[in-house]
Formats: sequence, structure tokens, C-alpha cells
Amino acid sequence: MGGLTYIDFLAKFGVGGAHPGGIPLTKNILARENITKDSLILDAGCGTGQTTAYLYQQYNAKVFGLEINPIMVDKAKSRFESLQLPIQLFQGSIEKIPFADNHFDFILSESVLAFVDKPKALKEFFRVLKPGGRLIANEMTINKRLSQKEEKEIKNFYALDSLLLEEDWNHLLEVTGFQNIVLKSQSQSMSQGNHAQEFNFSNIFEPELFDILNQHGNMVLKYQDYLSYRIITCSKV
Ligand SMILES: C[S@@+](CC[C@H](N)C(=O)[O-])C[C@H]1O[C@@H](n2cnc3c(N)ncnc32)[C@H](O)[C@@H]1O
Repeated sequence: MGGLTYIDFLAKFGVGGAHPGGIPLTKNILARENITKDSLILDAGCGTGQTTAYLYQQYNAKVFGLEINPIMVDKAKSRFESLQLPIQLFQGSIEKIPFADNHFDFILSESVLAFVDKPKALKEFFRVLKPGGRLIANEMTINKRLSQKEEKEIKNFYALDSLLLEEDWNHLLEVTGFQNIVLKSQSQSMSQGNHAQEFNFSNIFEPELFDILNQHGNMVLKYQDYLSYRIITCSKV
């Protein structure tokens, strides 16, 4: 595979809405929050910026994007420029967020925490949220424990350091200091796919990336009883 990762595939294919449920689910979740034009919102790990753009277009809010992958950053930047959206985009890691404490009203993080050092990133989210601020996340969650071999297969493919059960997420959020923690499962499974996905292909990409796409499809099917996701909401009180 030449060291190419699942994130390389997402970046080179320019997958927008690269999370279970896609932008339709995002819109539903956001509609339940009290977002106004004065809200400061961070899209943490914004990818090509589909949700980031929506946050500005729908709510006229003060929107910021943070993303580590340079290809994703370029694609998000082109999106915001072509739509003339005043979104501030930063290249950096959610493990070390380039903002002062108590800054944001909302942090939205769609399928990003799974790929990072989770305790570290959650501490950063907590730090940069204002008191009363809300974290909204859409994260890979396992429904039940797998064998070590199975866990290893999933972790290796997606380059994850851990696979969390709902109770593990809950514990991690609690020890970080979050309150009002709610984890919701959705009726649409990961294997039902995301029909609203969009693509923004790079000019040149490695043919091996198609293998990664196939392997992702196989993985989701093979582990359909185990691999799932939760909508996580919680507050910094
Ligand atoms: C599954 S994609 C989701 C992208 C976007 N949130 C969406 O829903 O379309 C995961 C994203 O997290 C980004 N990412 C991974 N590690 C990161 C980190 N430490 N800091 C910021 N972004 C990160 C990846 O580059 C990728 O764009």
C-alpha cells in the first residue's frame, strides 16, 4: 500500500461529509442546538469544509476551521474562496488547538477524535470552549468488544490507537470535565453508507487509493455488527 492511509484516500478523493450520516445528519443535529449569528464555532478536523461552509451559510455564525492534512486544507480553502465565505481556516492539530482558553461557544468534530489521541484532544476541546460551551461530535464506537485480532485489523486499517465502546466515551468525557453527556445511536448503520457524499478529486492520485476505498467497504460490511457511531453532545458547565 506504500504507506497510504484511509485519511490519504479521503484527502485525495476530496470526500466531503466524510462521516456517517453525512451532511443530512449534520443538519439535523445542528438544528437542535441554540446557534446564532454571534456564536463562535470551531469545526475541528474540518476536512474539505462542507460542514464548515454550511455553518456560515445557515447561521451566519463566526466560523473557524482547523485541519491537519494539507490537501484537505487546500480543498477547504478553495471551497470557502469560491463561495466567498469569511471562514478562518487554520492548519494544525486538535491535540494542540491554536486558540486561547474559553474561546468557542461550540466545537463540532465529525469523525476526527477516533483518529487522534482522544484524552489529549478532549482536554483541548474543554480548554478552548467557553463555560456553557457545547461539544458536538460524531464518532466511531464499537457496540461490543472484538477479539484482539479483529481489533488489530480495524485499528491498523484506520490507523487508530484505540476502539471505544459507548461507556468508554462516556468515561473519557466525564474525566475531562464535561457534563450533560448524551450519546445517541442512529438508525442508519455505517454499512448503509452516506448517499450525500461529494468528491473533489486531486489531479493526480495513486491507483492504490481505490484499494483503500474497497477495503473500507469490506471492513464496514465485515464488522457491521460491531462498528458503529454515536452522536455525542456535552457541555462545559
Ligand atoms: C473522517 S475525516 C472527517 C472530515 C470532516 N470532519 C468531515 O466530516 O467531512 C477525518 C479528518 O480529520 C483530520 N484529522 C486527523 N487528525 C487530525 C488532527 N490531529 N487534527 C486535526 N485534524 C485531524 C483528517 O485529516 C481528516 O480530514
